[in-house]
Amino acid sequence: MKIAIGCDHAAPNLKAIVKKHLASRGYEVIDVGTHTAESCHYPVYAHAVCEKITSGECALGILICGTGIGMSIAANKHKGIRAACCSDTFSARLTREHNDANVLCFGERVVGAGLAVELVDAFLGAEYANGGNHLTRVAMLKDIEDGKF
Ligand code: RB5
Repeated sequence: MKIAIGCDHAAPNLKAIVKKHLASRGYEVIDVGTHTAESCHYPVYAHAVCEKITSGECALGILICGTGIGMSIAANKHKGIRAACCSDTFSARLTREHNDANVLCFGERVVGAGLAVELVDAFLGAEYANGGNHLTRVAMLKDIEDGKF
């Protein structure tokens, strides 16, 4: 499975740790940057990761900034993207199972490296339940995007 990953200047160190972890688990990782602590703008990297997913090149994405919040707001502006900002493994698992989230966001200033890789494992290890009310509700998210509400 191909995973897109991106961060802003607040999180290149944590991104490097997560990338190494993903590689050790056999994932192919596409890193859209940033690669340094020089100040930059998180929407640029959120957009780059979302583009990898909406184009079909990558199945899922990971975005890291200071809090994870800016990245999740920016990512959720994209049609077809369901981004969740998580700092607990229960939410990281459930957002795949219930919301069919395709982008996981978290903050380097919020979670440590140990929790970050556990969030990633919980997210990537879960599968969308794909039925019943979950299917109806995720279809409703698409309806909101399409202006049908
Ligand atoms: C950058 O200082 C910080 O605002 C950014 O990384 C992020 O936390 C925004 O949501």
